Amino acid sequence: MCGIVGYIGKRQAYPIIIKGLKRLEYRGYDSAGVAILNGETRIFKCKGKVSDLEELTKKEDMTGFIGIGHTRWATHGEPNDVNAHPHASMNGHFVIIHNGIIENYSRLKQRLEDRGYIFKSETDTEVLANLIEYIYMKGNVSAEIAVRLALTKVIGAYGIIVICKDEKEQLIAARKGSPLVIGIGDGEYFFASDATPIVEYTHSVIYMNDNNVAVIKNNDLSLKTIHNDTLTPEVHTLDLDIGEIEKGGFDHFMLKEIFEQSRSILDTMRGRVVSDNPEITLGGLYHVMPRLIEAKRIIIIGCGTSWHAGLVGEYLFEEFARIPVEVEYASEFRYRNPVIFKDDVVIAISQSGETADTLAAIKLAKEAGALVLGICNVVGSSIPRETHAGVYTHAGPEIGVASTKAFTAQVTVLAMIAMHLGDKRGTLTKEEYTALIKHLTEIPNKVDKILSKNEEYKEIAALYKNSNNFLYLGRGYYFPVALEGALKLKEISYIHAEGYPAAEMKHGPIALIDEKMPVVVIAVKDNTYDKIVSNIQEVKARKGIVIAIVNEGDTVIKSMADHIMEIPNSDFALAPLLAVIPLQLLSYYIAVMRGCNVDQPRNLAKSVTVE
Ligand code: M6R
Repeated sequence: MCGIVGYIGKRQAYPIIIKGLKRLEYRGYDSAGVAILNGETRIFKCKGKVSDLEELTKKEDMTGFIGIGHTRWATHGEPNDVNAHPHASMNGHFVIIHNGIIENYSRLKQRLEDRGYIFKSETDTEVLANLIEYIYMKGNVSAEIAVRLALTKVIGAYGIIVICKDEKEQLIAARKGSPLVIGIGDGEYFFASDATPIVEYTHSVIYMNDNNVAVIKNNDLSLKTIHNDTLTPEVHTLDLDIGEIEKGGFDHFMLKEIFEQSRSILDTMRGRVVSDNPEITLGGLYHVMPRLIEAKRIIIIGCGTSWHAGLVGEYLFEEFARIPVEVEYASEFRYRNPVIFKDDVVIAISQSGETADTLAAIKLAKEAGALVLGICNVVGSSIPRETHAGVYTHAGPEIGVASTKAFTAQVTVLAMIAMHLGDKRGTLTKEEYTALIKHLTEIPNKVDKILSKNEEYKEIAALYKNSNNFLYLGRGYYFPVALEGALKLKEISYIHAEGYPAAEMKHGPIALIDEKMPVVVIAVKDNTYDKIVSNIQEVKARKGIVIAIVNEGDTVIKSMADHIMEIPNSDFALAPLLAVIPLQLLSYYIAVMRGCNVDQPRNLAKSVTVE
C-alpha cells in the first residue's frame, strides 16, 4: 500500500512525479506529498488526494531535476498533513518516502529520543529518516552507507526513496517486502511502486529484489545488497502499453475493466487453449506438471477476491481432476501452524502479486518443501518471483480497487489447470475434455452478451440503491460467486452485504429477511437447481425481494422472482465466469448512484502490502 515515485534526470521532476502519483493513487489516497531537490529540498504535503497536493503547490516554484513523491494509505498515525510523506530527518539532512511498515519502530524511536531526537509525526517513516541521519552524523559516513546500515537495524517491510541534501546529484532507493521498480531512460532514472508511472517514458526496467539498495549518482546506477555486495542489474523490457492504464472513455476504471472481460478472458486463454486439437498447454507449468499430476492434495491461498477465485478452483479441481483441495485465507494459513506435506502443491492467487499475507504464506509453504505455484496478474511482481512456477493471468492492468477482470481471469486459469489435470490423470474422458474446452472458448462471446444488457442492471440498481442490507445466496460453484457479489457491493457502495451458501439461509440469515431486504440469488441450472428454487420460495414467503441470476429462458424462477438477470447457458462449472458479471455491474451502478468514489473506495487500497 502507498505509492512512491522518484525521478532524477534532465527533465523537470515535478510533472513526472505528479502524473506518477495519479497513476499510483489506487495504492492509497488519504494524503500525498512531494519533495523537490533544487539547491535545497522543498517539501509539500497535505491530507487528501494528489489533486489536493496539486492545488497546494499551484503557486509554488516547483522546478528541479530531482524529486520524490508519495500517496499514502495510513498505517501509523491518522491521515493528516503532518503524517503525510515525505518526512525529513530532524536536522534536515535526509528526506524520505516509504511504503511498508517498520515493525520495530517504537524501540528505534525510543533509542533515538534518548539521544535527543524529537519527532513531529506519529509515523514509523520519520523514525527511519532519523535513524539514517543519526548514523550519518555519528559515523561520519556517506549517505549510501548510512542508509544501508540503518536498514540492517530495521525489522519490517519497506520500499524507500531517499534524498540527502548534502549529496545533491543522487537518489537512493531500497526495498524489502514492498515493491520498487527502476525505469532506465536516456540519462534519466524513474522509480515507482509499479511500472505504470514509468511506461510512458521507458520500457527498460529493473525490478528491485528484497535487501537491494540502488544508488543513482552522477547519472550512474549502482545496485548492491544492504550488506554492500555488488549486484549486476537485470534489465527487463516492459510488456505494457500506455493505453492499458488509461480510462479509454469510461467514467471509471472499474467500468472499463468490467467491460474488458471478454478480451481479458480471451487473452488469458490465448496460446494456451487450442480448440481444434483440442488441447490446453500451460508453458509456465511445463517443468512441474509431473509433480502436479501426482499431487495428493492442493492447497489454494489468497485474500479477498483472489480467495473467492480459489474457492471456485476448489470445485473445479475436485470435479475435473479428483484431487482434494483446501482453500485458505493466506493470513490464516500463515499463522496457524498448518500441516504441509512435501508432496503438497500450494497455489497462491493474487492480482497484484504483492499481497503481504500471501507472500508470507508462500515463504512458509516453500520452507515446508511444498511445490508452490502462482497465479498472478502483474508481471514481474514479487509472487511470481517467489514461487517455483506459475501462470500469469493476462488480464492487463487492473486499476479500480474493486477487483473484476482479475477474478474472471483467475477462474479461467484455474479452469484450464483443472481441465488439463483431468485429462492427464484420466479423470475426464476425451469427450468431456473436448466439450469443456469448447465451452471455455465460448465464454468471451457470452460475456459480451451479458454486458450488452447493461441498462437492465442499471434499472435494478436504481430501485435498490438506498437499501441498507443485501443478502447474496448461491450453492456449489455459485456460493463463491455469492461471496464475490457481496464483497463487490460492500467495498464500493458501503452497503452491508453478506454472501451465504443458499442452504445455510435457514440456519440463521433467514431471520434477516423482510420486505426491505433484497436477496440476490444465483440460480443457474446445475444439480441443485430444484433446491435453489425452494430457497427462493422461502425468501418470497417472508416477503423478501428476489433478484435472481438465471439461465436464458428460465421461466420457473422468472415467475417467482422480482427481477431476473439472464446469462447464456454454459457448462455449469464454467458459469461462475458469467454469473459474476451482472453482480459486478449491479454493485458498480449502485455505488455510482450513491455518489461513492468507485475506483478509490474509502479506507481501501489496491495492493495490500501490509500484514
Ligand atoms: O492483489 P491480490 O489479488 O492479492 O489482492 C487481494 C485482495 O486484497 C483483493 O482481492 C481485494 O479484496 C479487492 N479489493 C477485492 O475487490
